[in-house]
Amino acid sequence: MGVTICVGGQWGDEGKGKVVDLLCESAQMVIRSQGGNNAGHTVVAGGRTFKFNLVPSGILHPDTVCVIGNGVVLDPKVVLAEVEQLEAAGADLRNLVISERAHMIMPYHPVLDRLEESARGDDRLGTTFRGVGPAYSDKVRRIGFRVGDLQKLRFLEKKLDFVLPLKNEVLVKLYGAPPFTASAILEEYTDYANRLERFIRDPFPVVQGALARGERVILEGAQGTMLDLDLGTYPYVTSSYPSSGGALAGAGIGPREVTSTVGVFKAYTTRVGYGPFPTELEGELAEYLRERGVEYGTTTGRPRRVGWFDVPVARYAVGVNGIDSLAITKLDVLDELERVRICLGYRSKGREEDHPMANISHLKHLECEYLDLPGWRASTREARSWGELPPQARAYLERISELVGTPVGLVSVGPERDQTVWVGR
Ligand code: IMP
Repeated sequence: MGVTICVGGQWGDEGKGKVVDLLCESAQMVIRSQGGNNAGHTVVAGGRTFKFNLVPSGILHPDTVCVIGNGVVLDPKVVLAEVEQLEAAGADLRNLVISERAHMIMPYHPVLDRLEESARGDDRLGTTFRGVGPAYSDKVRRIGFRVGDLQKLRFLEKKLDFVLPLKNEVLVKLYGAPPFTASAILEEYTDYANRLERFIRDPFPVVQGALARGERVILEGAQGTMLDLDLGTYPYVTSSYPSSGGALAGAGIGPREVTSTVGVFKAYTTRVGYGPFPTELEGELAEYLRERGVEYGTTTGRPRRVGWFDVPVARYAVGVNGIDSLAITKLDVLDELERVRICLGYRSKGREEDHPMANISHLKHLECEYLDLPGWRASTREARSWGELPPQARAYLERISELVGTPVGLVSVGPERDQTVWVGR
């Protein structure tokens, strides 16, 4: 059956949660590969809404093994709150595995995130303040704490003796903030160790076993390609690798196992935080789409910036991730518009560009070339097959597919599981 990677093709919030949840119907395992509780997934099932930050979206399928993978940075208190919420709702968590290699958010990480952001002044990134950037920085500096350290508290204590003075020096001397004490951290994390113990495992035999049995494994990415540390709009990116390469590294799986890569895209575009956004809309139309699409961050509640569908971004995402099928979400948000626009390419300093440039100042100051298409002015929310979509909506999706050079495999027309049009099935 092999591995399906589910990757965000834009700036995150594309609706990967719903797509992963649907793909899980035929999967035995889902692995969350990177990111932390900066991400938020909303899954609506049976009229109930679940919001997850860390636990993979597949958790609502009782027979699916859900792995929080090596590449994740995990805030123990956030995952514990999710565990409690799920158990209260009657979910069976025997199948939840947390990799001993995943890194942990420590109490000083969110504090440093906030202080670093305010030190940047006008150049701030608009992070989620969850400590994700500082935690990944410590991982790269090799002073991070891993989930497996919770099983060796003497080792954790010793490491804290070395690491905490480094952190406190920055907090106190650079920012004039209060220091943290080792004993308080140790007490807090000892409690987490006791409560998380039943989930902590070495994921290698678990994942390799599933592959050897020929099971279907879904890799659930967080954020999106344009927020990738290497491939996105640096420095206005997250600190991990949301692309398919990052998903493989974060899950500990080799490329030979991959049988398909699904790119999830909204039928328009959104972005939270600062940084270039070529097709961004302002004014009444932006306000309308934000309200109709409920474009407010799942994690922070911040209003999302909104814009038209951007083909150069999508084509780039297809190329760098090896996407072989598009999942287009939230088509219904465009239902009432008289006209819909697709960005075909950019013009920058007199040159035509067909993909996002690395130079963000060029990316900020460009003109978009648009293709205008008539809107469908009819509800798509009840459509369950390609033929039930209005002809103009089909034409819109067909143009996107042609321009991006990739078939559409799924269209989402509402948050519920059944508000889905499978194409070519
Ligand atoms: P950080 O990941 O909190 O460091 O934030 C860095 C950038 O990534 C900011 O622009 C955030 O708004 C953005 N970001 C982080 N996580 C998500 C997400 O799940 N969806 C959309 N944007 C995100």
